[in-house]
Amino acid sequence: MSSVFQDAIANLLSPIGDLLKDPAVSEIMINGPHQIFVEKKGLVYRVPNKFADDESLMASMRAVAQSVGRVIDSDNPRLDARLPDGSRIAVVIPPMAKAGTTVAIRKFSEEKLGLKDLINFGSLSPDGARFLDCCMYLGRNTLVSGGTGSGKTTMLNVLGGRMPKNQRLLVIEDAAELQIKAEHVVSFETRKGNPERGIKAVSIRDLMESALRLRPDRIIVGEVRGPEALDLLNAMGTGHDGSMGTVHANSPVDACTRLETLCLMGETKIPPDAIRRMVGSALQLIVQCTRYHDGGRRTSHISEVLGVDEHGRYVVRDIFRWMQTGKDPETGKFIGEMVATGYVPSFFDEFVANKLPFPKANFKPPEWAMPLLKKAA
Ligand SMILES: Nc1ncnc2c1ncn2[C@@H]1O[C@H](COP(=O)(O)OP(=O)(O)OP(=O)(O)O)[C@@H](O)[C@H]1O
Ligand SMILES: [Mg+2]
Repeated sequence: MSSVFQDAIANLLSPIGDLLKDPAVSEIMINGPHQIFVEKKGLVYRVPNKFADDESLMASMRAVAQSVGRVIDSDNPRLDARLPDGSRIAVVIPPMAKAGTTVAIRKFSEEKLGLKDLINFGSLSPDGARFLDCCMYLGRNTLVSGGTGSGKTTMLNVLGGRMPKNQRLLVIEDAAELQIKAEHVVSFETRKGNPERGIKAVSIRDLMESALRLRPDRIIVGEVRGPEALDLLNAMGTGHDGSMGTVHANSPVDACTRLETLCLMGETKIPPDAIRRMVGSALQLIVQCTRYHDGGRRTSHISEVLGVDEHGRYVVRDIFRWMQTGKDPETGKFIGEMVATGYVPSFFDEFVANKLPFPKANFKPPEWAMPLLKKAA
C-alpha cells in the first residue's frame, strides 16, 4: 500500500487516532458517528471521540475497505476484514445499522499473551496451566470453547505454542490471527470469493483437504464455524492426535453439541447419532473460556470428554473449574481461583508412563472448595 494512501486513511481515521495508538485500548466500538466506546483491561468505557457526521465515518470506512481490496457500499453493506497491521475490523452500514455506520476494531497486539500471562491474570491456576501443558505434550484432541471475545483465540495461540517442537503444525484460519510460537508451523488463510472479478473463494474445508495431504502431525483450525467441523473430527480420529480448534459455545457440553451441529451443516450422509458418537470419541479435552460480568476473562472449565452414554448424552467430566469466592467491594472484581475438582482424567496413566511432572495429588481440590464444587455439580 502506498504511503500516500496510508496517510489518507490515517487522516480519515484521525477522530480515533489516539485510540488506535493507545496500547491500553484493545477494542474500539463505533455506534454511529457520535458514540464511541473502547475496551481497556476487559472493561468497556464510553469515550468523547466523535466523527463529524455519518458521511465522514462512511468515507473512512470506504477507504479502509479499499485499502484491503474490498468494497463497502449499498450492495455490500457489511465488511469483515483484517487491516495491514493485523487488527480485525467489522463494519455494517445503514440502513441495516440503525444508529449509523457501526464499526468494531479488535486491535492487534504485538505482545501475544503466554501461559505465564494467563496465570498472572488469574485466568488459569499454575496447576491448570501445567496440566494443559502435559495434555499438549501428549497430543490430546482439544476444543477451546467460549463466547464472543472470551479469549478463545488467545488460548488456542498459547496452547499451540506448547506443542512438542519436532511436530509439524498446520494452521488454518479465516483471518490469520494466530501466531503460534513453534519451529515447524505452516499457516493457511481462506479467501473470500468475488465473482465479478473472477476470484474463487477458498474455504476452510478446501484448505483442510490440502492440509491433510501435506503431512501434518497436528491440525489447528482457528475458528470452527461450518461443515469443516467434520473434517477436523476426521483428522482427530485418523492419527492427527493433538489437533485443535475453537468453537462458539457456553459450556463444555454445549461445545460438543455445537460441533455436532456444525458437522451436520455439510452435505453428509452420516446419520446424526453416528456424528454424535464421532464427536464423543474424537474429542478428548475442552478448555472453556468465559468472560465474567466483572470484565475478567477466565478459563472456567478444563474438562474431559469421555464419550456418549446409552441415552445419547455426552459424558463430560470437569477436571478443573474456576470458583468464585467473593467480590472486591471497591473494584467490583470477582475473587476466586481455579481448583481441581477431584476427578482424575481417564488418561492419567499416560502421565505416569511418560514421567510427566504432574502427580495425582494435583487433582485433589482444596478443602475450602469442596462445598462450592458440590453445589456447582
Ligand atoms: N485471560 C485473559 N485475560 C485478559 N485478557 C484476555 C485474556 N484472554 C484474552 N484476552 C484479551 O481479550 C481480547 C479477546 O480475546 P480473543 O481474541 O482471544 O477472544 P475470542 O474469544 O477469540 O474472540 P472472538 O469471539 O471475537 O473470536 C483480546 O484483546 C485479548 O488480548
Ligand atoms: Mg477468536
